[in-house]
Amino acid sequence: MNFDTIIKGGSVVTASDQMRADIGIQNGQITAIAIDLTDPAATTIDATGKLVLPGGIDSHVHIAQPSGDGIVMADDFESGTRSALFGGNTTIMPFCLQERDGDLRSAIDWYRGLTEGQLYTDVAFHLIVANPSPQVLGQQLPAAIEDGYTSIKVFMTYENLRLNDAELLATFDVARRHGGTMMVHCENEDAIRYLIDRHEKDGEVRPRAHASTRPIPVEREATHRALSLAEIVDLPIVIVHVSNGAAAEEIRRARQRGMKVTAETCPQYLMLTAKDLEGMDWEGAKFVCSPPPRDEAEQAACWQGLKDGTFDLFSSDHCPFRYASEDGKLNPKGAKNFRYIPNGIPGVETRLPILFSEGVMKGRIDIHKFVAVTSTNHAKTYGLYPRKGTIAIGSDADIAIWDPDLVKTVRHEDLHDGADYSPYEGLTLRGWPVMVMLRGKVMMRDGQLEGALGDGHYLTRASAPPSKTI
Ligand code: URP
Ligand code: ZN
Ligand code: ZN
Repeated sequence: MNFDTIIKGGSVVTASDQMRADIGIQNGQITAIAIDLTDPAATTIDATGKLVLPGGIDSHVHIAQPSGDGIVMADDFESGTRSALFGGNTTIMPFCLQERDGDLRSAIDWYRGLTEGQLYTDVAFHLIVANPSPQVLGQQLPAAIEDGYTSIKVFMTYENLRLNDAELLATFDVARRHGGTMMVHCENEDAIRYLIDRHEKDGEVRPRAHASTRPIPVEREATHRALSLAEIVDLPIVIVHVSNGAAAEEIRRARQRGMKVTAETCPQYLMLTAKDLEGMDWEGAKFVCSPPPRDEAEQAACWQGLKDGTFDLFSSDHCPFRYASEDGKLNPKGAKNFRYIPNGIPGVETRLPILFSEGVMKGRIDIHKFVAVTSTNHAKTYGLYPRKGTIAIGSDADIAIWDPDLVKTVRHEDLHDGADYSPYEGLTLRGWPVMVMLRGKVMMRDGQLEGALGDGHYLTRASAPPSKTI
């Protein structure tokens, strides 16, 4: 057999196995895994001493979404996928956001248009339903699910995005009937509004107030409510960006009742705390995201949740805004009052190195868990498996080769996103991807870009409810 590429001598790791093996690649797919491949190959890559992992899949990123008056997201699809690639990812899943006064189809067309020729990684889209009108629920959402837009995020917070309980139920019901997967942002908007008003009356408008207006019960209550509403219509759901132990406990209890729940946490809930929002001179704005980072005890609860299987997914929730910018965190109103600071932080490039270094290298999780929560489970949850998310014969040759001994300190100037800071500036991490291949093509090698814009593809998907897969 002839191969286009053989990766030789690496330690191949999947969510379940680790083996010293060579990988043969032909026409973008893995066609052989063997102890010693000697067949001719156009290219041989020496992976001795390295880990050969499935490319990362980040199933929660925001690219080019508008976020309020005059606020611009710092990444378009070029910079967002470039940054993802350098962080060891081969697929990302951003969102097509329905405007409150817009329809779903135009949202899909708009975001798909933005990706044309602009991708360094593969991309598949989730939808955000912001207005579940009769047209959206009756025709547009079923048609979109039929077209392969099978995962749909809804919000219980943010004035312009939140759905009330009746709207949540109705949207869940459509998803259940048509084979969609619902992702829910769980925070109680009315409680947040009340707390924001109270803080403002007290004159507390600094970035730190973002955390104190979104305390844990705000998230715990909404998590419980989302789970209950899903239970009422018998729908498996995904609870995204869980920040604390109490919300994780709600998820475990729902599972004990027999519910099918997939749960996600993110680097900010392992590495940051509400103290970061207290930075001097409004620097706390750099860490404003929702739910907010908590404290060390909640960090430990999130690590525990990763370890014990409460969390299936580890995503970045990359949502980048420039800090020192009039169209970013320090917009004219945001520079004076926390409620106008756009929510979200960058992190698509640091997600995998953080979990590898802080999780695997520090012995908190094993390498199989790392692969599962950063790649395999994302593919399974969102209908991309086994094309993506593993190293197996017939899978796309989306591969990240890691040097477990490479030590680097995070500096934003070395990253590739469009923001002007990293929340993890100065963090020293052991273990980084040194080569990333997308469908057999080397895209990044030793920190240098080798792929071309347009090498990334848009991925069509099959419907795959979380209950059936993980
Ligand atoms: O603060 C965050 N997480 N912004 C991104 C939007 C979201 O809620 O995921
Ligand atoms: Zn969210
Ligand atoms: Zn998000």
